[in-house]
Amino acid sequence: MIEAKNINFYYDEFQALKNISMKMEPNSVTAFIGPSGCGKSTFLRLFNRMNDLIDNTRMEGECIVDNQNIYDKKMNVDTLRKQVGMVFQKPNPFPKTIFENVAYGLRVNDLGNKQFIQERVEESLISAALWDEVKDKLNKSAFELSGGQQQRLCIARALAVSPSVILMDEPASALDPISTLKIEELIHDLKKDYTIVIVTHNMQQAARVSDKTGFFMLGELVEYSDTKKMFLNPEKEETQNYITGRFG
Ligand SMILES: Nc1ncnc2c1ncn2[C@@H]1O[C@H](COP(=O)(O)OP(=O)(O)O)[C@@H](O)[C@H]1O
Ligand SMILES: [Mg+2]
Repeated sequence: MIEAKNINFYYDEFQALKNISMKMEPNSVTAFIGPSGCGKSTFLRLFNRMNDLIDNTRMEGECIVDNQNIYDKKMNVDTLRKQVGMVFQKPNPFPKTIFENVAYGLRVNDLGNKQFIQERVEESLISAALWDEVKDKLNKSAFELSGGQQQRLCIARALAVSPSVILMDEPASALDPISTLKIEELIHDLKKDYTIVIVTHNMQQAARVSDKTGFFMLGELVEYSDTKKMFLNPEKEETQNYITGRFG
């Protein structure tokens, strides 16, 4: 379970998130939608402390992941980032072989012997629906894969260190429609084992893959509800306007 409580977030003087509170259920997919610049990525990055890497930022409020306040001084950020994996808009494999991309997190964290790593790489590639396509070329460069395959490789890389949560920031927006569909199917399969939070600017995608949807505007969470309700019968006029394409 993930919970954000009364989150305010600032880049210098600019307030990018305004008093946001939200709970996300385990083994479900939560989507964030809203116009460009409304704070979706900023909010997503809070949950594995990726915003810590940006200078002159400040957060108020609490973020809780698996019963831990992740901004607590005692929290080990490396441990957190294994627990909460992230997949970005543009596939970003390392300049290494397919195998070594997936093994990377295990090696740098000194997790397991050779046989364990072998098994974990295979399992992760199977879970990321990529194994059949790469099993005969594990020692080829990751850059030889298509964009859609590279993105599934990045998902496999995130899965290898056994996270409980996966954050995805527009994971399919750089991909063709068929690769996008594969990623959406994958998200659907992964939710039985993981809690998934996805940012998407594609409302049909949110409607297809998510259980709950949060609609953001100008740093505020305007509405948060079951995805079906959000798209069929939203509470707020702003939501209605956005999902019917009147702005954004
Ligand atoms: N590194 C940054 N430094 C300063 N302002 C930023 C930075 N990243 C995002 N912002 C600003 O914060 C707001 C929210 O951005 P972002 O979270 O990227 O929105 P979204 O993902 O919904 O498009 C925007 O106004 C954006 O310009
Ligand atoms: Mg964004």
